[in-house]
Amino acid sequence: MTFAYGETELPVDRRLFVPDTIYVSGERWLEPLRRDEQPEAWDRLVTADQAVTTATDGDEPLHPHLTYPPGMGYVPLSSSSAPSIMAQMIEALELEPGMRVLEIGTGTGYNAACLAAYGAEVVSVEIDGGIAERARCALRDAGFPDVVVLTGDGELGAAEHAPFDRVIATAAAHTVPYPWVRQTKDGGRIIVPYTGDGCQYGLLALDVRDGEAAGQVVGDAAFMPLRGQRLHPAVQNNIEDWPGLEVRVTAEGQRLARPGTPLTAAVWTAGHRAH
Ligand SMILES: C[S@@+](CC[C@H](N)C(=O)[O-])C[C@H]1O[C@@H](n2cnc3c(N)ncnc32)[C@H](O)[C@@H]1O
Repeated sequence: MTFAYGETELPVDRRLFVPDTIYVSGERWLEPLRRDEQPEAWDRLVTADQAVTTATDGDEPLHPHLTYPPGMGYVPLSSSSAPSIMAQMIEALELEPGMRVLEIGTGTGYNAACLAAYGAEVVSVEIDGGIAERARCALRDAGFPDVVVLTGDGELGAAEHAPFDRVIATAAAHTVPYPWVRQTKDGGRIIVPYTGDGCQYGLLALDVRDGEAAGQVVGDAAFMPLRGQRLHPAVQNNIEDWPGLEVRVTAEGQRLARPGTPLTAAVWTAGHRAH
C-alpha cells in the first residue's frame, strides 16, 4: 500500500506521525495550527508534498533579543520533511531489505517508519528527549515497534549499534561528523543534506571505503541544521555555490574541492569537533 503526496508515493501514512499541533507562517511568527480546531487545514497540509513544522524555538528563543507571544515561535526546531525530498534521499541511499540504517534526526518518526517499511533495520537518534519519546510512541502505535529511537547527539552516531550499511541524516551538516564514517561498513553509503563552504543547500552522497568517505553533491536539499552546526544567517546567505562540489571525510578532517581544481583551491575543515 502507498500514500500519495502530490506526485510522490511513500509506503506509510504521514498522518500517523505528525503531531496534532503544527506550525504555519503567520504575519511575524510561526503560529500553531491545531488539528481539533482546524481538521481540514491540518489534513490538507499534512497530505501535501511540503515540509510541516512540528516544533519551534518558542519556549527558548534562539534570538535572545526577540521575545515571542505565548505559543508562537520563530525558528523551526523540528519538522516532517517534504515527502518528495524524503523519497529522493531514500532513493539515493540505494537501500536493500535487511540493511542496517542509522538515521540522524528522528523528528516525528515518519522517515524512520518509511525506511522500516522498505525493509531496513533502523536505529534513529534524536537530540530532543521530548521529540524522541513522542516518535517512539508514534512508531509503536503505527506498527513499527522494532525501530530503535535513541536520545542523544546524532553527531556521535550510535556506536553501540554499529556497524551500519547506510547513514541518512535529516538535519544539515557543514562538517560531516567522522563517527558516521567510522560506524559505516566498508562499501556503505552516507546521505546528508549539506550547507557549508561551496554549497548552500545540497544533498551529499558519500561512499565509504577504507575508513574514509568521499562523494559529491547529487541534488538540492534545504534542511534545518544539526543543533551543533548552525551557521550565522549572514554566513549562510553568502555561501558561494561550487557546481559539482566534491567532499572527502577522513579521521583528520573534511576536504572540499571543485572538480578539476588544484588542491590549493580546496578548503580544509580540520580540527572539527574531535569525537
Ligand atoms: C527535519 S527534522 C527530521 C525529520 C524526521 N526525520 C521526520 O521524519 O520527521 C530534523 C530533526 O533533527 C533533530 N536534530 C538536530 N540536531 C540533531 C543532532 N545533533 N542529533 C540528533 N538529532 C538532531 C531535530 O531536533 C529535528 O527533530
